[in-house]
Amino acid sequence: MISIKSAREIDLMRATCQLAAQTLEYIAPFVKVGVTTEEINSLCHEFIVARGAYPSPLNYHGFPRSVCTSLNEVICHGIPSKSDVIKDGDILNIDVTTYLNKFHGDTNKTFLVGKVSDEVKKLVDVTYLCMREAIKTVRPGGHIGDIGAIIQEIAHSHGYSVVEDYCGHGIGREFHEAPQVVHVGKAGTGPEMKPGMTFTIEPMINLGAKEGKVLKDGWTVVTRDKKWSAQFEHTILVTSNGHEILTLRKEELI
Ligand code: MF3
Ligand code: CO
Ligand code: CO
Repeated sequence: MISIKSAREIDLMRATCQLAAQTLEYIAPFVKVGVTTEEINSLCHEFIVARGAYPSPLNYHGFPRSVCTSLNEVICHGIPSKSDVIKDGDILNIDVTTYLNKFHGDTNKTFLVGKVSDEVKKLVDVTYLCMREAIKTVRPGGHIGDIGAIIQEIAHSHGYSVVEDYCGHGIGREFHEAPQVVHVGKAGTGPEMKPGMTFTIEPMINLGAKEGKVLKDGWTVVTRDKKWSAQFEHTILVTSNGHEILTLRKEELI
């Protein structure tokens, strides 16, 4: 069942989603050569708890940290670590989910560090475009399949692959609720979008093949071919005449 949020629930979603967005704004200047992903984790953790919220990933199905940090060939669910030191030319996705007043807000961004190769920079730009164009399909009467269709079309037109093993998701009182938001598919298929639905769009786009594997730590998902992967995520509300990007940051002019 896909939950429809009331006006009051939507206000609470706005608040938690804006806290998640502000956490990404706050952490941006710390994403620099020599910083460890463990330090990124601690700073995000303190920022979130100082504002009366809880970092949703912490202890979620046993996840051991407060944010996910996914470097280069890591597709998603990277575990912050003292031994992961950010290097020049890296790309780092930081995935922040906050739990505030009983509601979750989920957003992530891939940061470029120093001199990133043109090939990888283009991957990151196209991944953002995939998310952005997918968001534009969100409106009452649309279908969840419209999202995957446009993402797939854009990614494939650049020779990239779309990860299928992990999806976007409904979000609200639960971190992951119905519907599943698959990032490939066919327009006009899947559940119909209705005002009051809230879900994430979070395409993971690979330079090489779509296949991933989970490392022995039980969480970190890397590409099988070790080629790099990028991701962006927003939490979206279906409104009466379109959508609202609940996790939109001030810096994003869209
Ligand atoms: N934030 C991720 C998502 O976008 C989920 C992370 S689950 C965790 O759905 F356990 F790895 F934190
Ligand atoms: Co998510
Ligand atoms: Co997320």
